[in-house]
Amino acid sequence: MRKLGIVGIRGGLPRARMTAHYGNIDIVTACDIDAAQRDTAAALGIEVFDDFNEMLRKAPLDSLIIATPNHLHCEMTLQAFAAGLDVFVEKPLATTVTECDEMIAAGEAVGKFMMVGLCYRHSNLYQAFVNRIAAGSVGKPRMIWCKEFRGHWNPGHGDWRYSQAKSGGSLVEKNCHHFDIFNWAIQSRPVRVQAFGGHAVHDYCETIDHATVNIEYENGVKGTLMLSLFMPELDQLEIGVLGDAGKIETAQLHGRPAASGVDAPPQLLAQTLSIWPLPDGTETRQTVAPYYCPLWPDGKDQHLGSGRQFKVFNECLTQGRTPTIDGGIGRESVVIPFAAEESIANGGTLIELA
Ligand SMILES: NC(=O)c1ccc[n+]([C@@H]2O[C@H](COP(=O)([O-])OP(=O)(O)OC[C@H]3O[C@@H](n4cnc5c(N)ncnc54)[C@H](O)[C@@H]3O)[C@@H](O)[C@H]2O)c1
Repeated sequence: MRKLGIVGIRGGLPRARMTAHYGNIDIVTACDIDAAQRDTAAALGIEVFDDFNEMLRKAPLDSLIIATPNHLHCEMTLQAFAAGLDVFVEKPLATTVTECDEMIAAGEAVGKFMMVGLCYRHSNLYQAFVNRIAAGSVGKPRMIWCKEFRGHWNPGHGDWRYSQAKSGGSLVEKNCHHFDIFNWAIQSRPVRVQAFGGHAVHDYCETIDHATVNIEYENGVKGTLMLSLFMPELDQLEIGVLGDAGKIETAQLHGRPAASGVDAPPQLLAQTLSIWPLPDGTETRQTVAPYYCPLWPDGKDQHLGSGRQFKVFNECLTQGRTPTIDGGIGRESVVIPFAAEESIANGGTLIELA
């Protein structure tokens, strides 16, 4: 049995339970500064700590899930590596690129792995999207876009997200997932980024609530992302690629059933993949079934790919599988949003990436 620990129980406990569901994992210990979170874990027979260092010193662990606010990821990962643990760390990898590099180097130095929670890479929808592009369905990719129009982070939960220093900024916290899909689909590195953003509705937050980001890749592909954090009720996410022979688009729609209240997690209502043109010049639209996820009440992997990612994490721990979503991918996923946040802070200046 591999001995798994958690830091950041609110999100870490369900992640650990999903990992353990696939076998040969014992969740032995959990740490959180919040007493109510510790009580939740203790009720399941898990030994709890309020101090991370003390947990590392005393608990017989060989692996750790880090699900704390973003500004804590780097320090906690470095401490976990120093204690000889394999690590699953939530996205975004860290709040600066320098921290990402330190984390990667530390893991390599001790020969321990780091898997990053970019769960969309494990989803049926985005795997189908990227595989179709790689197979040449749209010819050579020329443009990529993402529109994410979603609701606000609920105040009173995860308020660190409103702090630029603790979250890295809205584009880092929210859109590292989507810039990761850009990098994955385009298979090139970004060279130039320019962005505009600000506060349209939630002006009490330090972090912005809407933005547009433009990117140019080394291979000439142009990308655009639009984010809004004030769309009421529905969360809508569209990502597409235009190639020199056609267009492929994905759409995800999440919403809260009317009776469930604003605090309820949004439910996955639809996910589709559309390709144009078919040989007869028409468009096809197919519904992509979510990956089956045993711990969600309806079995659907609501947060795309998150179910499968913990099956993979389990296999990394118990069968020696190499994590596909490693520190390098985690690092690249934050390069564009950090540059975009810098551009916005400087009034929309063009950022040239080394
Ligand atoms: N992969 C995804 O799609 C996804 C989804 C949600 C959240 N996340 C990421 O997971 C992380 C946590 O997000 P969340 O929504 O669960 O945040 P949250 O604020 O709801 O939970 C954070 C937990 O960490 C605990 N904590 C804070 N400081 C601590 C410390 N010093 N020591 C021990 N525990 C501490 C808090 O008490 C809380 O239980 C973030 O990095 C976020 O970006 C990723």
